[in-house]
Amino acid sequence: MNTERGIPSARSPLGPILVAVAAGGAILILLSWPLFSASVAPSLEDVLPLLNTSLILMSGACLVLGRHFIAQGCVIHHKRSMITAAVFAALFLIVYVTRWATFGTKAFTEQGWLRPFYLTILTSHTLLAIAIVPLVLIALRRALKREFLKHRRIARWTFPFWLYVVLTGWVIYWMLYRL
Ligand code: HEM
Repeated sequence: MNTERGIPSARSPLGPILVAVAAGGAILILLSWPLFSASVAPSLEDVLPLLNTSLILMSGACLVLGRHFIAQGCVIHHKRSMITAAVFAALFLIVYVTRWATFGTKAFTEQGWLRPFYLTILTSHTLLAIAIVPLVLIALRRALKREFLKHRRIARWTFPFWLYVVLTGWVIYWMLYRL
């Protein structure tokens, strides 16, 4: 154990290994999914949403690990996990914008109670996804400037909002492409 500004941290490789396993597992399961279910090779239009959802889920896996590590007092693992989570989120954004610019948006065609449910999830997901961009950047900036008390104040909001965006991102993908 060593300390960073009096806060305990650890240097064992457990953190990065767990992050890599969680991230690799999520993307493998998701990317191999269409290979099992489709009889024809999936098109780019099918693969991009899958890649997108994998990236957002990997960001969520790292986020949850990062939360776990700070609860254990492992600042170094927390830092690595959160930076990895932010990188995956940035990749998600790049793939999302590429897909949107190339193929546009996909309409939800189901009717009945599923429709208002889907629209509620989609609206809250989109609004919070926009809101967390500055929150994540400010949380990272404060942490990297070692302003940990200020970091903690904003991180307490950033974490649940980010997690909500990740989980609802998965639900939206599921409802649009798997229902
Ligand atoms: C956007 C990325 C990040 C998020 C979402 C995040 C999230 C969090 C959360 C939820 C906490 C616990 C707050 C609480 O006590 O309830 C925390 C604490 C902490 N984070 Fe981060 N974190 C991020 C990046 C970083 C980075 C890059 C570092 C670099 C060292 C860092 C260092 C710390 C430290 C030292 C604490 C403990 C602060 C204290 O207890 O006074 N975090 N963070």
